[in-house]
Amino acid sequence: MQLKAEQLELYRRDGYLVIEDFVSGEVCDQLRQRAAQLVKDFDPAEAISIFSTHEQSRLADDYFLESGDKIRFFFEEGAFLPDGTLRQDKEKSINKIGHALHDLDPMFDDFSRTADLKALADSLSVTNPLLLQSMYIFKQPNIGGEVTCHQDCTFIYTEPMSMAGLWFALEDATIENGCLWAIPGGHELGLKSRWIRAREGGMRFEVFSDVPWPEEKLVPLEVKKGTLIILHGLLPHKSLENKSPKSRHAYTLHVISGDSNYPADNWLQRSEALPLRGF
Ligand code: FE2
Repeated sequence: MQLKAEQLELYRRDGYLVIEDFVSGEVCDQLRQRAAQLVKDFDPAEAISIFSTHEQSRLADDYFLESGDKIRFFFEEGAFLPDGTLRQDKEKSINKIGHALHDLDPMFDDFSRTADLKALADSLSVTNPLLLQSMYIFKQPNIGGEVTCHQDCTFIYTEPMSMAGLWFALEDATIENGCLWAIPGGHELGLKSRWIRAREGGMRFEVFSDVPWPEEKLVPLEVKKGTLIILHGLLPHKSLENKSPKSRHAYTLHVISGDSNYPADNWLQRSEALPLRGF
């Protein structure tokens, strides 16, 4: 869908835009069922990789760094007992699936490549748009981890910066179950850091500004199932832990301009066998 002038104005002012009823309840449920099936088919012994932005170990985690052109499963930080076994069923332990669902899974491929989303990218002025990454985020009941305040361009950098994030609520997202929080207008604050591949291996942050985020300006984005939130790549946003008994499933898609330069030191690199594609 083409955005209306007033929607574009809001997006440019706030750095995000909320569009209710973008996805039907039925399609939300189909995507949830598909994700449940992927988890069911996943053997957790294949990869015990705790995903958390607090964890230094994650930074050197090849399982993560090689996932740009694969479908891989990442656990919640609180998923394991001290002896390394899962605290609860794997179905309740996965933090997210990433990062090429949109290329490798037929149902997510179909959902991600539509004329509507292409028109949306066009109206956001993402020229020659390419689908870079997708994530299915579970935000599990009781143990869904916090994601600290960040800009997506820290992780998905292009020159010039071109990334737009599409965040689809597959269930109601509330303060209670860990909805997104964002700083309206925070996309004007400039890029704070980049997460880059270090020459010696692993990853490191290249920091451009030490000024802390004005987190007192964060507002909760509580949305209904089926809502699309468009996020500017420079918008500071976060989500809190989910301590509630309700999950908060979301699917995200990150789009970049094929006319921008994509640096070789970005974490996400794809093999030549699976080049990036548009809508
Ligand atoms: Fe993000």
